[in-house]
Amino acid sequence: MRLRTRSVFIVLGILFVLTLFSVWLTYERFFREFPQEAWVTADEDTRFLYGSIGGEVDAGIPYWIFYVLPRVFPEKLPGNGAGYAAFGPAWEQGRELPAGFTKKRIGFDRVGNNCASCHTASYRLTHDSNPVFVPTGPNHRLALQDFFRFLVLCAQDPRFNSDVLMREIALVTDLDLIDSLAYRFVIIPMTKKRLLEREAQFAWIFRPDFPHWGRGRDDAMNLTKYFMLEWKMDDTLGPTDMPSLWNIDKYKPEAGQRMNWAGDSNDPRSVIIDSALGVVGAAPRDNAAFLREIDWLHTYLAKYKAPKFPLPVDAARATQGKAVFDQQCATCHASPRTGTVVPLAEIGTDDKRILTWTKEAAVAANRVVREMGIERPGLVEAPLTGYVAQHLDGIWLRAPYLHNGSVPTLRDLLEPPAQRPTLFHRGYDLLDPQKVGFVSTGPRAEQVGTPFDVRLHGNGNGGHDFGTTLPAADKDALVEYLKTL
Ligand code: HEC
Ligand code: HEC
Repeated sequence: MRLRTRSVFIVLGILFVLTLFSVWLTYERFFREFPQEAWVTADEDTRFLYGSIGGEVDAGIPYWIFYVLPRVFPEKLPGNGAGYAAFGPAWEQGRELPAGFTKKRIGFDRVGNNCASCHTASYRLTHDSNPVFVPTGPNHRLALQDFFRFLVLCAQDPRFNSDVLMREIALVTDLDLIDSLAYRFVIIPMTKKRLLEREAQFAWIFRPDFPHWGRGRDDAMNLTKYFMLEWKMDDTLGPTDMPSLWNIDKYKPEAGQRMNWAGDSNDPRSVIIDSALGVVGAAPRDNAAFLREIDWLHTYLAKYKAPKFPLPVDAARATQGKAVFDQQCATCHASPRTGTVVPLAEIGTDDKRILTWTKEAAVAANRVVREMGIERPGLVEAPLTGYVAQHLDGIWLRAPYLHNGSVPTLRDLLEPPAQRPTLFHRGYDLLDPQKVGFVSTGPRAEQVGTPFDVRLHGNGNGGHDFGTTLPAADKDALVEYLKTL
């Protein structure tokens, strides 16, 4: 009897230890958060480019799956390209991941995104030189729609299964027993399921009646409607250029200045919060930690100034150009009107972006954020009426121009709309120092870029015809001046 009791205790004891062990193991291998490698946060720029803002928890992809997807499904990459580089992220030499892609271990290594994926610019001065990357600048090369499609198409493919992926993973790394089991039986099936759950929300990026966004554009307000609000798909499409984020405190909400292309949002902090919620893809686990990250981003973006034009500027001509600017452009671009919304009837540019967002959407999105316990002035709860008269700092690095990126260079913007280019390529980062913008025609632009046809939905290049009747010499001088901003 005593012996039996003792064995029961021994068995219970073993079970207890085993339970503790498996709880500990589950925590260690699935949930425990480890800080990123020290180099990431050692420097403000690397923190912006590679630092986690929490995007790995709900929106992240397990590292080894991320690693092998382009190897297993090369045919789903744009142009059957070479790995993730095919999507045009800002990829610094020698880095494991491109800018805007973050690696963090939460139980196991995961890859998430941060602001830098869309907000890092690149340019080069000759075709053969290395690109210069500018954090906080617009990524005019990123094939974002193709990247989203890639993830969904991979998940839909029957070859997205544990046998195929594990075979590929085994070619590049030796997972230990626990990780092998976890990947095979939990992580791979879960990742497929999670990606397929988003299939319906991504439906609009597959619509055959909508034109391709092309490189450097994002249909941001529709993303917000379908992912944050989980609204049903409507018939709108309004892809825009990625804006620059440098010098963010130039926006003065108290003076009626608004943010986003169509003035949908009230102030820098609100846009940073909403953008970060988009990246995180769910309510933050810890609001205080989330808001600390927001504060850091805000300070960084306010401090970061627009980069200088990288080539010599003809000072005399720029001075002439300033006189033209003061006469033709300053009323909107260097006055209290700067940063405020100019009515569509006055500006006359493409209206499709405005149609993607409504007062009701703003009310609903503000409610979602409030219910997360986050207070901010938020989105403007009013119908959209026009586009924001842009601050022009660093305008040389913000091509193609206008909200929809429909005009390749500054000099083209000064031509009457009917004479602006109607078909060009976006996504090449060779600077055109004369017309100011990126080279958008010729074999190289065609090879690395995506075609942009101004006749397609949302791509109209009309409107903003200021300065278009000036003599050519004045236009050239004006462009010289714009290089100095
Ligand atoms: C997937 C691409 C993408 C990511 C990631 C992204 N943004 Fe943006 N961001 C955009 C686009 C596109 C717009 C313009 C939207 C519009 O007006 O239609 C924008 C607009 C903004 C603006 C307004 C700029 C202005 O001049 O009005 C700010 C500020 C901003 N983003 C900050 C951030 C921050 C901070 C992050 C990271 C937390 C972030 N964004 C992540 C694409 C992105
Ligand atoms: C009546 C106000 C107004 C005047 C005058 C005006 N602009 Fe604009 N500008 C705007 C608005 C509004 C936008 C945004 C339009 C859009 O994106 O659809 C804009 C956009 C731009 C852009 C593109 C910004 C970007 O990031 O893509 C440039 C460059 C520009 N303006 C230069 C000029 C120059 C140069 C002049 C003078 C010849 C001028 N503007 C005169 C209101 C004005």
